Amino acid sequence: MSRFAGKIALVTGSGRGIGRAIALRFAREGADVIVNYFRNRESAEETAAAISALGRRAQLVKANVAEEDELERLFEATRAFGGLDILVNNAASGYNRPVLEQRVKGWDWTLNINARAALFASQRAAPLMQARGGGVIVNISSIGAQRVMPEYVLVGVSKAALESLTRYLAVELAPLGIVVNAVSGGFVETEALKHFSMAQPILADSAAFAERYIPAGRMVTPEDIAGVVAFLCTPDASMIRGQVIVVDGGFTLRH
Ligand SMILES: NC(=O)c1ccc[n+]([C@@H]2O[C@H](COP(=O)([O-])OP(=O)(O)OC[C@H]3O[C@@H](n4cnc5c(N)ncnc54)[C@H](OP(=O)(O)O)[C@@H]3O)[C@@H](O)[C@H]2O)c1
Repeated sequence: MSRFAGKIALVTGSGRGIGRAIALRFAREGADVIVNYFRNRESAEETAAAISALGRRAQLVKANVAEEDELERLFEATRAFGGLDILVNNAASGYNRPVLEQRVKGWDWTLNINARAALFASQRAAPLMQARGGGVIVNISSIGAQRVMPEYVLVGVSKAALESLTRYLAVELAPLGIVVNAVSGGFVETEALKHFSMAQPILADSAAFAERYIPAGRMVTPEDIAGVVAFLCTPDASMIRGQVIVVDGGFTLRH
């Protein structure tokens, strides 16, 4: 399948985890990809090499998306790469602790990376997409935007902001030919999960967790998320606007 032949995609935080799976999915289906990373150069180089091995162009850009000058540099590289058709705001971080232990620093850190960066990346992406006749933005959210999970308050709040931002972008960028949606994942086995105490029992025996709590009977994989992101970037999904598509194997239907 070459659904994205001739397209250019930028996936923030795509050196590893879910972002990497999304970047590889685009490359496998014909897109050239800008791989953004923050701290882990080695895994980002591996992602870029895997994209090249698929016969696509890859551009590696180190940038903390929460820093305005670094975000601008990321988009300068994107312009130099040839423009932009698809932006996936995937990068995320967070201060994981209970409400009473949170500090202003953690709020700023988490909200700036997970929510503010998506607004200012989308702002920069819009004219590039318009110049290519339109484009697609997909924001990666999580079920903690709607539900209360232990130590997840800041990421949850940031994802709620991201979901609201998705609706505003969907309406205000529609006249430019830009489609905007969000994908919200259930528990996905990545490095991120290791940083949550609530996830330790899941990681200890994820098959047993899935059998007991996930109607689909298995954990969500990064590839599951990537598949839905890719679909949202196709013309078949062009009338889906401002929606949050939950990809959790049915987990939240019961919990
Ligand atoms: N794992 C889950 O269960 C789950 C569930 C639902 C939704 N999600 C969402 O899916 C997305 C990816 O999650 P993941 O599990 O793959 O997380 P992860 O394994 O922790 O990876 C996070 C990615 O974000 C990048 N990143 C972090 N801060 C950044 C910054 N300031 N600027 C640029 N890049 C930054 C990291 O880059 P470096 O490694 O280079 O620092 C890394 O590539 C996130 O939006 C997350 O909230 C995850």
